[in-house]
Amino acid sequence: MLNHQYTRYSLATGSSGRGWQLLGFTVAAFAGFLSWAPVARAQDSTIRAIQNIFDPLSAPAETLYQISILVMAVCAGIFLVVGGLLTYAIIRYRRRGPEDDHEEPPQVYGSAAIELAWTVPPILIVVMLVLVTARTIGEIQHPKMTDAAEEIRVIGHRFWWEVRYPKHDVVTANEIHVPLSSRTNHVPTQMILESADVIHGFWVPQLNGKTMLVPNYRNTMWIEPYATGIYLGNCTVLCGQQHANMLIRVVVDSPEVYQKWLDSQKQMPASDAQVAEGQQQFISNSCGTCHHIENARGATGVFGPDLTHFSSRATLGSGVAPNDNEHLRSWLANPQDLKPGCLMPNMQLNSKQVDSILAYLRTLK
Ligand code: CUA
Repeated sequence: MLNHQYTRYSLATGSSGRGWQLLGFTVAAFAGFLSWAPVARAQDSTIRAIQNIFDPLSAPAETLYQISILVMAVCAGIFLVVGGLLTYAIIRYRRRGPEDDHEEPPQVYGSAAIELAWTVPPILIVVMLVLVTARTIGEIQHPKMTDAAEEIRVIGHRFWWEVRYPKHDVVTANEIHVPLSSRTNHVPTQMILESADVIHGFWVPQLNGKTMLVPNYRNTMWIEPYATGIYLGNCTVLCGQQHANMLIRVVVDSPEVYQKWLDSQKQMPASDAQVAEGQQQFISNSCGTCHHIENARGATGVFGPDLTHFSSRATLGSGVAPNDNEHLRSWLANPQDLKPGCLMPNMQLNSKQVDSILAYLRTLK
């Protein structure tokens, strides 16, 4: 039986460490080279699974990284000065034995020089940190959005992500394609974050800090990724039983690949007579009450992920398993096996129904 060994598939497939990082740089360099060469390019499938704020690959994450390094350097400096003086005093003035006199050292009262020394520098340090932080917050909260900026709506659901591209009339789920940016030619992606039910948290550490998705409220954030690949992240607010499997994949595409992806998502799925039976089963088992499929009459639901281009996605159940036939069959037979507590019920399909619906879903590219 397919079960929990596949959980957190997205995370498990990516490794961390220097090797992958080096590979990432190599791939990025190679991709840079390719952008000169007139060859057809495919999506960069490098998995960027390093969930580490100290390894930023996008504008806001990089700014956050720089300020955290500054704050930590200042704190480390203070620690060294205070700890050093303390250690010196402990060792230098320790009790040495019976020959020590037992009198107190001379007490100093009202020394203006000493009091200024321990109040003025800390105040200056705090003011400096406040100013730098305020500037950074301003930069992140009020970015300069150009006409080239992409705009995406991400709506958190228990336990998946709805993704809408209002400029292009494209709807998808869980795998968020965004265009590549660079430090010289900015292509920011503005994200409007909303929730359909409870509070969720959106966090892809290499791209930006955490932002919450709050019901009846619109939060915004933006990213500007500097390398292509698939960036992994998680929901960061406990939102229910499958919170830990509400995984995020941000796919950063070069401009050409991104355009190709948008074009493919705008296309209507071809109606294929060979899978008419599967489509019929999909509708008659009321899958269409929750799922929308363009071009399929009766599939107009908005409660579950849009399936119009389902088979163009690499994972199932918000990253819980790879989107291959074996896992899709398991998912259709009983979603509660792969993702216990997810809101898609066991529809009690027999294996013939599962196979025909699977064949239909596979035509939705
Ligand atoms: Cu959504 Cu945790």
